[in-house]
Formats: sequence, C-alpha cells, structure tokens
Amino acid sequence: MQEILKKLEKEALESLEKADTLERTKEIEVQYMGRNGHLTMILRGMKDLSDEEKRVIGPLCNSTKNTLEEAFAKKIKTFEEEALAKELSKEFFDTTIPGSARPLGHIHALSQLQEEVEKIFSQMGFTVADGPEIESEYYNFEGLNIPKDHPARDMQDTFFIQEKNDEKHGRMVLRTQTSPVQIRMMEKYGAPLRLIVPGRVFRFEATDASHDSMFYQVEGLLIDKNISLAHLKGVLAEFLTRLFGKPVKVRFRPGYFPFVEPGLEVDFSCLLCEGKGCRVCKHSGWMEFMGAGMVHENVLKAGGINSKEYQGWAFGFGLTRLVMMRYGIDDIRLLTNGDLRFNKQF
Ligand code: PHE
Repeated sequence: MQEILKKLEKEALESLEKADTLERTKEIEVQYMGRNGHLTMILRGMKDLSDEEKRVIGPLCNSTKNTLEEAFAKKIKTFEEEALAKELSKEFFDTTIPGSARPLGHIHALSQLQEEVEKIFSQMGFTVADGPEIESEYYNFEGLNIPKDHPARDMQDTFFIQEKNDEKHGRMVLRTQTSPVQIRMMEKYGAPLRLIVPGRVFRFEATDASHDSMFYQVEGLLIDKNISLAHLKGVLAEFLTRLFGKPVKVRFRPGYFPFVEPGLEVDFSCLLCEGKGCRVCKHSGWMEFMGAGMVHENVLKAGGINSKEYQGWAFGFGLTRLVMMRYGIDDIRLLTNGDLRFNKQF
C-alpha cells in the first residue's frame, strides 16, 4: 500500500511537471483527485482496512493528498497569473487616474427634522412612541371624543377601508392624525406619561401646493399630577428655541378640537422678522404652528386613566409644515415627488 501511494504521488507530480497548459493541469487534477480519480479510489478503500493498517496508512494517505492538492493549486495559480499578466500587457492601464466617485445618498430633509425633534424631546425626558397607520374608527374618532355624526369628522376627510372590525372599533381607516396613539399609549402604559409620536397621517384631499393626501405630524402627550398649560408653554418655547438655535416665543389662542378642553391654537414668533412683522408672517409677527390643549376627560377615560388624579396636555403639529417653514419651501409636493434636484439641497 505504502509503495502504491508513493508511486502514485511520484507519477502525479511528474505529469504535473510536464503539463504546459491550464487545461492539461486541470485534466490531470481530475485524473488523480476527481470523483473517480486514482487517489480518491484509494481513499475510498480505506474503510476496508483493519484498524492496525489504518493507523499506518491513514496519515500517509493524508500527506499524499495534501502534497498533491498543494502542487495542483500552485500550478493552476501560476497559469492564472500568467494569463492575467498577458491580458494586462495588451492594454495600457494607468493606475494613477482618479476613480469615478459613486454618488452618495443622504437623509431626506423631513427625516433630518424628525431626528432633531426626537432628539430634543428625548433630552427633555419624552419617549418616542409609534402607532399603526391603518387605524380603527374607534381610535381615530370615538375614543378621541369625536362621536359618529359629529361635524368634527368633516374637518378631516378620511380614507375608509371597507373592512368591518367589531361593533366597538368600527371600520378601518387610514389615520387622519397621530392623536389615536394617545389612547393606545394610555391603555398600554397608564399614567404618568411623557411622549411624542412622529408619524404619517392621511387625508382625502385634493392635492395642491399646500395640501397633500399624506403628510407627517408629531403628537405630544404629557400626563401627570398637577399639570397645567404653563408647562406646555415652557416645553414648546424650549423645544423651538433649541430647534432653531435662537430664542423663540410661543403664543396661545383659543381653538377647538373635540379631544381637548380647553383647546388651543399655538403660534410662534416669526423666525425671519422675530415678531416685527414681515411678508413671511403676513405682517403679524407670528406663525401658526399647531393645535393643543388639556386632554379631555373623556379621552382620559377611554385610555383608562383616573381623571380625578391625573391630568395633562396634548399637542399635534405638522412636521411637513415645519420643514416647509424652516426652509421656505412653498410647495408641499416637492417633499415627496423624489426630484433629486430638490432633495440634494438639504
Ligand atoms: N390631531 C389634531 C389635528 O390633526 C392636532 C391636535 C393634537 C390638537 C392634539 C390638539 C391636541 O389637527
């Protein structure tokens, strides 16, 4: 057996020596190492040997196999390198020419702003929460104190998905606001709460420069003991000041939303003229920013929170509108139509 192996190795190395092409080398490799190759057959026969024989022959077989594998690999590599060198010599290749740069993408203006908003509110102790975009009528309306046939439903034209849920939850809709997440979070975590919910909302609207059927909102909710609108004013002024990097003032006006009482419209001092009055703020010195108010008792109830013990405020602003104000973008559609000439500016 030992002799056979030695002979085989010698033969193989000799014919390898003589092989003068890559093809021939590969042929010889198959002859010895292939599925029915000489060496392969011997290796396969190993199992019929006695333990004694295996102990002697085994290592020998392995070393022959390793020697041959190495020899073949080395020769094949030599041929391949020669071929490559030949290929390269055909053509002058200037390795000093600078490469062509790959275009690099970047974060969309909206997402950039969303990240900044999340960061600032996180620094103030708010959690960033999330909720479903396909929502039930219950969470989008009833739970938020907007009963069926209430005219407030017309304020937000709705995309209905004609799929009946149960009696309580009604049909499915594309959420028209991020406010339903208020109730979901109250149900899930109870009081106290301090969170924001950035996300997409949908409205069945004719599209024009200032309306789109999809846009981004950020909901805010704070529930605790002894909470007042003074806290809201402080948090918002701090948020806007950090976001814009200069002092921003906040103003409250009465407003109506069924899920807050009292309800507010919130404005902030014009970034351009700082309140003096200019074209951007229509000479009022203020920019309309968002809706807010003290969370309605019925909403706390829907969320399973004891309104005798806890109270809080909520707000909702358009992230899309904020990005437009920030950069003076005058057409909402630019933000979603994927035009790179626009997107590259941010
Ligand atoms: N959800 C309201 C809207 O989309 C905004 C809002 C949120 C108002 C929270 C008050 C409190 O218009």
